[in-house]
Amino acid sequence: MTSTPFPPEILRDVEKRRTFGIISHPDAGKTTLTEKLLLFGGAIQLAGTVKARKSARHATSDWMEVEKQRGISVTSSVMQFEYEGHTINLLDTPGHQDFSEDTYRVLTAVDAAVMVIDAAKGVEAQTIKLLEVCRLRNTPIITFVNKLDREVKEPFDLLSEIEDVLKIECAPVTWPLGMGKAFRGVYHLLQDQVLRFTPGEERRVDAEVIKGLDNPQLDTLFPMEIGQLRDDVELIGGASAPFSLEDFLAGRQTPVFFGSGINNFGVQEILQSLIDWAPAPQPRDAGKRMVEPAEAPFSGFVFKIQANMDPKHRDRIAFFRICSGRYTSGMKVKHVRLGRDMKLANALTFMANERVHKEDGVAGDIIGIHNHGQLQIGDTLTEGENLGFKGIPYFAPELFRAARLRDPLKTKQLQKGLQELGEEGAIQVFEQEGGQMLLGAVGQLQFEVVAQRLKDEYKVDAIFESAEIYTARWLTFPDEITRRNFEREQAIRLGKDVDGNPVYLASTRYNLDVTMEKWPKVGFHATREHG
Ligand code: G4P
Repeated sequence: MTSTPFPPEILRDVEKRRTFGIISHPDAGKTTLTEKLLLFGGAIQLAGTVKARKSARHATSDWMEVEKQRGISVTSSVMQFEYEGHTINLLDTPGHQDFSEDTYRVLTAVDAAVMVIDAAKGVEAQTIKLLEVCRLRNTPIITFVNKLDREVKEPFDLLSEIEDVLKIECAPVTWPLGMGKAFRGVYHLLQDQVLRFTPGEERRVDAEVIKGLDNPQLDTLFPMEIGQLRDDVELIGGASAPFSLEDFLAGRQTPVFFGSGINNFGVQEILQSLIDWAPAPQPRDAGKRMVEPAEAPFSGFVFKIQANMDPKHRDRIAFFRICSGRYTSGMKVKHVRLGRDMKLANALTFMANERVHKEDGVAGDIIGIHNHGQLQIGDTLTEGENLGFKGIPYFAPELFRAARLRDPLKTKQLQKGLQELGEEGAIQVFEQEGGQMLLGAVGQLQFEVVAQRLKDEYKVDAIFESAEIYTARWLTFPDEITRRNFEREQAIRLGKDVDGNPVYLASTRYNLDVTMEKWPKVGFHATREHG
């Protein structure tokens, strides 16, 4: 195969892209870190900006009200900023675990992730789940151990916990000098220098640097803490792996940084590591071939759909990750699933907190496309070729409800509403034998949002009743005969998802196990890819 040289100006721009997301358990410090990163990137001037938005959107009870003003969360969905000659795209992930499906999909559009761990709490439940999702694509992970200004766990214990629970090797890059009230800074193991901690930095400042672990200045400044640090550093040599770029890029090892987000300490090192180590956009599997990020023809996929940016217009925005080529306003692309052309005009980008029109974008960038129902999650757009990007997962829901109408004459509206909300990914919708509509969610709050939106947008008053369903499994069959036999025997437990794929709706864990045992050739899948 002869390789075509890539257009140099695309290659140059792609190499300067870093696209990442932050994963953490609620309250570990994601919002705070986001804000400080934006501060460094010059995207916001004062701390408090992101925080204020978060407090508006985080509280569960306020969710409906906030949803009505979706602009708030949409503008913070993607934040692009410049840092040291690089263009950084930070993709926000919903903090509330009830919306984790959305988070999983966002993680398919990043090239790296920063994992924030609360040093007092260690590895928490949501972090474990999110890391599993990153692992599906071997996404490289940078770890930020936060809140060192508090009384926290011992750093060695934290590293063992991360290694044991998350099954990823830790390579400490910085190491704390004291903690809690006696937190004095961090020692940078690769640069052999101490960065001195000063509390309460609301602005971008460079930390004071003291070169060399043996520097007598350290004994004068930190007589109580320096002995421990020197002992620790000696131990690290034997106890921890040295940083390996190759292992990091393969998702096997995570470089670990210690700091305090709220005090803006350790944040710059995270940014630097993103630039130095995190990968630029990589080739992506598009079904029939791998697509190189710098190849000239444009391509990419929709990973998220957000509705009601403007409640008066009921438009939706499709968030689209560019995988190759260059986006230019007004360009014509092929909508592969529908097999027809469409014009991409007025796509949006998200410069920190303002929506601005973007004229240009390359692999790694996200554009927001106005969508009137023609785009679904997982859709591929290309400049002509029939590609289909892989890997955007649906996860088997853990909660089920049957939808019933108060007014039976509204069946059509209910079906339309659920179909559209299902396509958007707000909820998973299954149709059971006999036409019963079943909703599947990962978090309870999803049902509430859907009920509210059905009322507001489709004028449908639906009741969600509990359904005796334990979980769903997507089915694959080895041949037609097996399929028909299975369908005949299991008719009562069968359904279809929004795209018409067959699913098995198990009543209990036992029911699922027994059926799987009885039908060893039938595939029962807990995840399915979009598209
Ligand atoms: P999240 O997005 O991951 O949910 O976390 P967020 O940044 O909102 O941080 C959760 C809480 O932890 C906040 O306190 C925040 O101020 C605090 N925090 C973040 N980083 C640090 C740190 O380095 N040190 C300390 N001591 N605290 C930190 P809160 O009381 O919930 O909110 P607020 O009243 O401070 O706004």
